[in-house]
Amino acid sequence: MFESLSSPKPDAILAQMAPFKDDPRADKMNLGIGVYMDDLGNTIIPNSVKLAEQRLLDSENSKTYVGLAGNVSYNQAMKEIVFGDAAPEGRINGMQTPGGSGALAVLAELMGRMRPNAKVWLSTPTWPNHAALLTKGSIEIGEYPYFDPETCSVDFDAMAAKLRTLGPDDVVILHGCCHNPTGANLTNAQWDEVAEIVKETGFLPFFDIAYQGFGDGLEEDAYGVRHFANTVDEMLVAVSCSKNFGMYRDRVGCAFAMGLNEETAAVAYANMQNIARGIYSMPPDHGASVVSIIWQDDELREQWKSELKVMSDRMTSLRTQLAESFRKHSGGNKYDFIGVHRGMFSLLGLTPEQVETMKKDHGIYMISDSRINIAGVQEENIDRLVKAVLVVAS
Ligand code: LMR
Repeated sequence: MFESLSSPKPDAILAQMAPFKDDPRADKMNLGIGVYMDDLGNTIIPNSVKLAEQRLLDSENSKTYVGLAGNVSYNQAMKEIVFGDAAPEGRINGMQTPGGSGALAVLAELMGRMRPNAKVWLSTPTWPNHAALLTKGSIEIGEYPYFDPETCSVDFDAMAAKLRTLGPDDVVILHGCCHNPTGANLTNAQWDEVAEIVKETGFLPFFDIAYQGFGDGLEEDAYGVRHFANTVDEMLVAVSCSKNFGMYRDRVGCAFAMGLNEETAAVAYANMQNIARGIYSMPPDHGASVVSIIWQDDELREQWKSELKVMSDRMTSLRTQLAESFRKHSGGNKYDFIGVHRGMFSLLGLTPEQVETMKKDHGIYMISDSRINIAGVQEENIDRLVKAVLVVAS
């Protein structure tokens, strides 16, 4: 029967991992998959996470199931991290999921149950896995304008004009912060305007927030989600702890549904648990317990926040240094946008062929759309990277 299957297209991001590993060049650079690295190229485990893991190991006395919604105190911690004081009483429920992708998958199923004829709108461009995770049954995928490659910034007029044409059968995926892959983000005033458009048109906002704390700060990065929580009637929010807690392989995420009132929110929450039961049944515990321990302990919480700030400060500083180096070596300001963007990624504006040349001639790996992971850059390599880009792009 397997002969009826055709081979899937390789994943645009994961396809980079094996060739990089096999490349024997000592000075190769990994700017591919979105994993934080320090200046030595290591993806370290935050100390706050290590300490919480030790506490968990010492105190855990059972590995019985925790239930469909996962760890309840983790869900509460995530509600506080993401929504702060903005969560309207009784209207938002969070459910622990296996990673942010698990949250997207559960909420996509929920969307299918609520609006089987929905069309899901993704920004142009977006994280390549969005389409795969959000394609459910008869749901169609559409694209709304987002990034203007000429100005290397958000084309907000085009985005807003498109969103104004949508209606209640439409669902719009919004990157809560640190847009993947462009690094170009909405201003607070633009978030306010999108919330107004939601109220005018009735489309369902569906946030994906996977990099909270990697941009302008833990609170600042949540502006959009929090403003919507205060303003709109309903929304979905998928959250990941992979990046900000450095717990990539522990698969810890959270799915939130905000309803018009307590009753509808409760029904949505029951449906989410029912959907989880039909996919993976119950989520893995470890990462969620660790996050919950960190968030409940004043000292560990502060330690985690400062470790998170070290990561985001490093990326912001690398952005400034890269923009400066581009200015110095090119004599122009074309690459200034790198210093303005926030989060892990920016698009260098190279063609797929030029990206291949970067790999072949310089041992510098990035995604074929020329997305680079800023955290993969090491300070001593900045000039080498910049010179290679300028040679290849010329
Ligand atoms: C990325 O965009 O590189 C990360 O979100 C990792 C992934 O799974 O794609």
